[in-house]
Amino acid sequence: MADTRVELCGITLDNPVIPASGTFGYGREFAELYDINCLGTFSFKGTTLEPRFGNETPRIAECPSGMLNSVGLQNPGVDAVISEELPELRKLFSKPVMANVSGFSADEYCEVTRRLAESDVSEMIGWYEINISCPNVHGGGMSFGTDPCMAGEVVRAVRKVTDKPLIIKLSPNVTDIAGIAKACEAEGADGVSLINTLMGMRFDLRTKKPILANVTGGLSGPAVLPVALRMVYQTACAVDIPVVGMGGVSSAEDVLEMMMAGAAAVEVGAANLRDPFASKKIIDALTAAMEKYGIDKLSEI
Ligand SMILES: Cc1cc2nc3c(=O)[nH]c(=O)nc-3n(C[C@H](O)[C@H](O)[C@H](O)COP(=O)(O)O)c2cc1C
Repeated sequence: MADTRVELCGITLDNPVIPASGTFGYGREFAELYDINCLGTFSFKGTTLEPRFGNETPRIAECPSGMLNSVGLQNPGVDAVISEELPELRKLFSKPVMANVSGFSADEYCEVTRRLAESDVSEMIGWYEINISCPNVHGGGMSFGTDPCMAGEVVRAVRKVTDKPLIIKLSPNVTDIAGIAKACEAEGADGVSLINTLMGMRFDLRTKKPILANVTGGLSGPAVLPVALRMVYQTACAVDIPVVGMGGVSSAEDVLEMMMAGAAAVEVGAANLRDPFASKKIIDALTAAMEKYGIDKLSEI
């Protein structure tokens, strides 16, 4: 029997499949459809200090083999996540969850992580996934993830408030993603995850205006898989910490390919929006795909 278990920063996952942040909410809606305990884990919606309604609509534009989104980190804020979302999730999910943290300053990342770490639901959290694709309001709006110094500053700050594994989620909108990963590793990150969405835009030919109210948005889905594989490969070659791979994964074969590129575990994003059963279907297909390609143990890929 093929062995699908993998290890991520000292925690064993039954399989490497992790629904990606922003495409699985806080798990509740999906738990109505299937038992989400079949997942390796999942990364919950990017959580900020204050509640956010997100950007104006339209904020989704379909593309061939993918989608553009400018949802803008809509979430109920960290205090509601602690008092409402995680207690509900505890009834439905018995595995450690990945807490996705967003912020617009190093202090905000720190405060969100600190509140989660000091809360009475903190034992539910296995890993903190720190999304550094957010703009730095004190740095002229430039994304933390596009500059090794700013990325390192966030890791240094958050490292002080938790001993749990810190996985830094990197932006692909850079020339040298491996350099950013190395800066995070040097400041004490336990892992990196990539890729977040690629900046893009589309126009409506009738109105002659951008489709998204926000003008630009992030591209994800099958179209980005080759770019993601290249970036995961380059990063895995450059760092000694685990790499969580994502970007365009929509089948068990894509999971194997991502792991061949060097990923220790694999997140699945837009595919969950196209088909809410996508992550479960990928897990169900994993053993047969491993047998087809002569892989006994995923951890040895
Ligand atoms: C609608 C939507 C919302 C997202 N929200 C977040 C978020 O809150 N935090 C985050 O780190 N990434 C977020 N992402 C990025 C995904 O987690 C993932 O990195 C990206 O979509 C690439 O994977 P995919 O091609 O499988 O979708 C979002 C993506 C989508 C499509």
